[in-house]
Amino acid sequence: MGEKFQGSTMLDEEYSADPHAYHARLREERAATEVVLPRGTKAWLITRYEDARAALADPRFAKHHEHLQRVMEVSTTNPDDNGALEQSLVRHMLNMDPPDHTRLRKLVTKAFTARRVEQLRPRVQEITDGLLDAAQGAAGPVDLVDVLAFPLPITVICEMLGVPMEERDDFRAWSNTLVSDSDPAEIETAGKAMGAYLFGLVEHKRANPGDDFFSALVHASEDGDQLDQGELIAMAFLLLVAGHETTVNLIANGVYHLLRHPDQLARLRADRSLLPGAVEEFLRYESPVNYATFRYSTEDVEVGDVVIPKDSLVLVSLLSGNRDGSKFPDADRFDITRQTSGHLAFGHGIHFCLGAPLARLEGEIAVGALLDRFDLEPAEDLEGLAWRPGTLIRGLVSLPVNLSPRG
Ligand code: HEM
Repeated sequence: MGEKFQGSTMLDEEYSADPHAYHARLREERAATEVVLPRGTKAWLITRYEDARAALADPRFAKHHEHLQRVMEVSTTNPDDNGALEQSLVRHMLNMDPPDHTRLRKLVTKAFTARRVEQLRPRVQEITDGLLDAAQGAAGPVDLVDVLAFPLPITVICEMLGVPMEERDDFRAWSNTLVSDSDPAEIETAGKAMGAYLFGLVEHKRANPGDDFFSALVHASEDGDQLDQGELIAMAFLLLVAGHETTVNLIANGVYHLLRHPDQLARLRADRSLLPGAVEEFLRYESPVNYATFRYSTEDVEVGDVVIPKDSLVLVSLLSGNRDGSKFPDADRFDITRQTSGHLAFGHGIHFCLGAPLARLEGEIAVGALLDRFDLEPAEDLEGLAWRPGTLIRGLVSLPVNLSPRG
């Protein structure tokens, strides 16, 4: 890998193409490593399982949102509001510490419990069946990202929030830019467009309330002072982006590894009770979110043999922790029947993924339905498939397959 930046490790395209090799070496060498992200931001990367888990639960690694806002330079102004409305997409709970985090999370927790999410099962199945009907009609190979892994989660979260999806393609483009390592000008443009769109949506829900979850949130904010306008926009932003930039990769990464490991695919076909465990192994083995979002050290913090100085940006790699052999024996082996409990794919601590039950449900239904209906063959050399550029998200650009309906 080479020390490319004044003694620091550069997380560049080479890294994004195969982060596992980098992580294996970093885990071996030291507990935390100073890295440089593609846009030049310096951060400390924690790669070992136990350190990662401890860091995610450590209040000395805080979110410190004002600081984050300066670093990320993502703020939006609604162009139709004479500049009076200064909104920021980053004022959401994932960027907050207690007590703000506690207050914001409490408002949405109920909608995402395992029980509430289970009620969505028939609708998630129906959406999946419709997508697979359309895919079956296509001539030649299909891209599983395009026909299933991307549209399923975004349709589900938009329906849940009551968001009309005419602007789905724009939305996908803005969202992709915002989670990428694009240059700040592009990120700002995408942020502004997204902010204006969500502002319009809040206004629409205010004027035309439905019985959806988002209308309920808008009205909760009118009755009390629980969510101000900016927080509401930020909440919609978080749920929509978190709801679809991640599960797409759970589904596509999972199918990709089943195709690469035909013995595992055969076992899963033979015994469908293995599916929930298989989804956990997809999450562990090729975690859709490489590292948790930025934290800041509020004091000098010792991590193993390294001291991370106060006021550093800190990244905790979930992808790396989940491949740490000291926690998961023979961690680089893909095994759908292995013990995966404690994996970090959904994070850990107070920011543990709110959408985990929904992501699991979507993953199980998508992969289950795919295997029920089709025999799958890769349409291109699997080793040659491209991974998304950028360091935050771990996912395939596309997954071309040939689908043969099962008799
Ligand atoms: C937080 C991963 C799906 C909503 C997180 C975090 C991770 C994560 C790692 C913590 C980040 C941190 O601590 O910095 C994933 C993965 C998913 C997934 C791997 C799919 C496989 C979803 C879905 C939703 C969602 C479907 C639903 C809307 C959220 C929210 C938070 C969050 C709201 C912030 C929670 C908080 O700050 O308290 N997710 N997520 N996620 N996720 Fe997910």
